[in-house]
Amino acid sequence: MNTPPPLALSAQTPPSNTPATQRHQRLHRLGARILGGFALLHLLNHLAALRGVAAHQQVLEVLRWFYRHPWVEPLLLLCVLAQVASGSRAAWAAWRAPGRLGTVERIQVLSGLVLGSFLSIHASAVLAGRWLQGLDTNFHFAAAGLHIAPFGWFFAPYYFAGVSALGIHLACALWWRLAHRPAAQRRRAAWAVALAGMACAAVLVALLAGWVVPVQVPAAYRASFGV
Ligand code: HEM
Repeated sequence: MNTPPPLALSAQTPPSNTPATQRHQRLHRLGARILGGFALLHLLNHLAALRGVAAHQQVLEVLRWFYRHPWVEPLLLLCVLAQVASGSRAAWAAWRAPGRLGTVERIQVLSGLVLGSFLSIHASAVLAGRWLQGLDTNFHFAAAGLHIAPFGWFFAPYYFAGVSALGIHLACALWWRLAHRPAAQRRRAAWAVALAGMACAAVLVALLAGWVVPVQVPAAYRASFGV
């Protein structure tokens, strides 16, 4: 993992960056902090299902009180848009200069692309479920696809890839942030975050699939898959 500082998303700005690129980097980091804070609570909310779907629902209702606030939700959705846009711009810059990318930068760009694709589909699906289908977008909404063949073949890798990409992308950010630390320490910290993300992804998929606690998907959610 010993590579030069990243091209477009580094913690320290490379000297070749234009003011416009630096503005996008700052925007990307600000959005990452807001969205990262939400994602942490959101994933903990899903892990609460380890105590049963009812426990997940209780935590969801408390969190919704905050993130569905009319001042908070538009900001959150704006962050999703800004992250996808500024991340795509950084990926485009990296694509045009692939020879200059080191291993960590490549992993950062790839995981960012997976995360951005996941986020775009995920946020659109949730809003469509709520506003167009009139569904309560709760645990059963997320789990339904894993309980109806053959959709599980899409939804299991989809959730696993989305949450793993988040862990790996954060691990890359941490790698640059710890630039002043000994290489072994940096490597350990980055691997720990990446592996924690992948482990969390595996547990969440198992929970949604009903392998850990019982999950009974109500008819209204099955109907949205035509069953
Ligand atoms: C297994 C993983 C995940 C599952 C099962 C899941 C499921 C859900 C569900 C059910 C909702 C609707 C919540 C509600 O109605 O209050 C939701 C909303 C959302 N999720 Fe996820 N999610 C996952 C991972 C992620 C990740 C990793 C991110 C971000 C990096 C994310 C970002 C969002 C956003 C931005 C919303 C929209 C919030 C709103 O405005 O209502 N999700 N998710």
